[in-house]
Amino acid sequence: MIGGVMLDRNRILKILKNIINDKLLKHSIGVEKTAIKLAKVYKAETEKAAVAGLLHDCAKGFTDEQLLKKAVDFDILLDSVSKQQPQLIHGPVGAQMAKHIFGVDDIEIIRAIEIHTTGDQNMSVLDKIVYLADYVEPDRDFPGVDALRKLAFENLDKACLFAFNNTLKYVIDNNWLIHPKTVIARNDILMKMGN
Ligand SMILES: [Fe+2]
Ligand SMILES: [Fe+2]
Repeated sequence: MIGGVMLDRNRILKILKNIINDKLLKHSIGVEKTAIKLAKVYKAETEKAAVAGLLHDCAKGFTDEQLLKKAVDFDILLDSVSKQQPQLIHGPVGAQMAKHIFGVDDIEIIRAIEIHTTGDQNMSVLDKIVYLADYVEPDRDFPGVDALRKLAFENLDKACLFAFNNTLKYVIDNNWLIHPKTVIARNDILMKMGN
């Protein structure tokens, strides 16, 4: 029970199965499980981590056109980078779907879903857990994933910094637009680490 709403896992899965494919569902369950483990280590609420993990990509099955339309429907203000790379909007759209379709009324869960793609300033422990769980869930495979998986359970901030750096390098190598929030999130964590 979160915020007076009963968030039944089976009910969430039933709705989720109709809007995302099997591969994305498997990923979402992997993020849910990893987020629960991280929440236990970092003393966050496991139920919130589970729901945010399970729902974080609920809008990822949409096309660019559908995401842009849903952003308008949900009154989401779009920045120029997101307009040009609409897949970035699956976080904010997913957050609104969590609220309006899945009945999530917990602002911490909604926020964690909203910023899971770009990161943001002042990330909470839950935000960082969902961001990292998305990065290191068991199906993820990229150079350095095992080291990051280990780091995620040892030092949440250092692991987030590594993940943001990795993302920024990847975005630069592919000549994609950098979302300003990713730079803000990365600098914010680094500044608070006192380096
Ligand atoms: Fe995502
Ligand atoms: Fe994801």
